[in-house]
Amino acid sequence: MNVMTDNPVALPALDPMELRRCLGAFVTGVTVVTALDAEGQPEGITANSFSSLSLSPPLIVWSLRLNARSFKTYQHAPRFAVNILAQDQMPVSNRFASSGIDRFEGIKHTLGLGGVPLIDGCVAYLECSLEATHPGGDHVLFIGRVERIQTLDKQPLAYGGGEYKAVVPLRP
Ligand SMILES: Cc1cc2nc3c(=O)[nH]c(=O)nc-3n(C[C@H](O)[C@H](O)[C@H](O)COP(=O)(O)O)c2cc1C
Repeated sequence: MNVMTDNPVALPALDPMELRRCLGAFVTGVTVVTALDAEGQPEGITANSFSSLSLSPPLIVWSLRLNARSFKTYQHAPRFAVNILAQDQMPVSNRFASSGIDRFEGIKHTLGLGGVPLIDGCVAYLECSLEATHPGGDHVLFIGRVERIQTLDKQPLAYGGGEYKAVVPLRP
């Protein structure tokens, strides 16, 4: 018996709001993924879909909505950087999730490998080359090969249940 195809239980369709609520129970960090567009202009988007994927080779993954305005940029950019936001960078997260503004205006940054922007004040940076993309429903998975890293001694910003959170260590 093939459990995938012969499952006799007819389940009701998932409620999209309930699905969001359930997924929101998984608390994540917050990143801004940066790249350069075809004209060499900086692009950046807030993403909490970032995850580690492989240590050897060093691979990471994040996913982007197919209908994101910046989709073409990430699809064609040979490199991107994952900027892991610090606890005091909530305004940066909101800025890079907003439409109709110049997201980099007033954002201090340096240029990393290939001229990809690295936003000042983050907890960590992973500079990546694009290894592969994979379709994933209404998103696409972007797999990056990590080429250079930096980690700073700062508190990270967290996100869960539709709101920003601070990370509090639990000690036994
Ligand atoms: C905390 C947070 C996490 C987000 N994570 C993602 C993500 O992983 N993937 C994604 O496609 N959009 C994510 N978004 C939404 C995008 O940041 C937002 O839709 C985007 O900036 C719009 O980009 P566009 O102008 O390129 O369409 C997130 C937004 C917030 C506030």
